[in-house]
Amino acid sequence: MSRFETLLTEIKTGIFYITINRSDKLNALNAKVISELGEAVREAYDNEEISAVIITGSGEKAFVAGADISELKELNETNGRKFAENGQEVFDSIEQCPKPVIAAVNGFALGGGCELAMACHMRVAAPGARFGQPEVNLGIIPGYGGTQRLGVHVGKGKAMELMMTGDMVKADEAHRLGLVNHVVETPEDLIPFCEGLIQKIQKKAPIAISLIVDTVNAAFSNEENGYQTEANSFAACCRTEDFQEGVSAFLEKRDPEFKGR
Ligand code: COA
Repeated sequence: MSRFETLLTEIKTGIFYITINRSDKLNALNAKVISELGEAVREAYDNEEISAVIITGSGEKAFVAGADISELKELNETNGRKFAENGQEVFDSIEQCPKPVIAAVNGFALGGGCELAMACHMRVAAPGARFGQPEVNLGIIPGYGGTQRLGVHVGKGKAMELMMTGDMVKADEAHRLGLVNHVVETPEDLIPFCEGLIQKIQKKAPIAISLIVDTVNAAFSNEENGYQTEANSFAACCRTEDFQEGVSAFLEKRDPEFKGR
């Protein structure tokens, strides 16, 4: 039985499947979901059995249809700031996760749902998925990192448009805009496609993978010099056994066997 109230979790062949499980509310993110997501992501960091994560929503209709609007009405200036900072912290921990995290977007990814998908390292969409930041319809703005991340994917002008109009985009349009990596042909293809991506990554050197996460994120950090982070991370790779193994395997014309050391 899952130890979470609002998430279904399972570890299989190194993949940690996290399914947000409030399908009657289109998997809306209430405080419990945010706190349990934070806990699940910590498990992804700490559990050596886990080498990758897939986050999805339960049911056929929604990935996540946003923050739970019934809880939003309690917000004022003071707890509103806390609400945003708390969600930002959890989504930041997803973005910084040393193991690859894929959002398998099976339906509506609106508001906090779109922000959750953007915090993941990659996004794969089912054909019926819909993306949008409709917070403006409620008189608010995205608060879980959407104002910062959307422009990275779709460019500043389109991000402004999507946030100001609250318009939704379909999966194919999201793909054209660069918001999703792939759109699969049928809903049934979604998880197997994500698993296929992960199986490729699982064959690579885990330390290099975690340093790719750090270094690519550094490009978007105000605190780090991305090039310096890259040089430091490159140097860190050079002292690993996996680097020796990768080069030896190439020269010996065999597949490498990486150990994560
Ligand atoms: N928060 C809380 N409950 C939500 C929700 C949210 N973000 N999104 C959907 N729900 C609930 C609905 O209230 C409804 O609950 P009920 O059956 O108890 O009335 C249930 O989920 C099903 O949603 P419904 O609106 O009936 O489905 P629909 O197919 O008609 O519309 C959406 C789907 C996604 C277009 C619509 O639910 C919607 O606009 N949701 C809000 C999206 C949003 O603004 N998100 C950003 C929040 S900051």
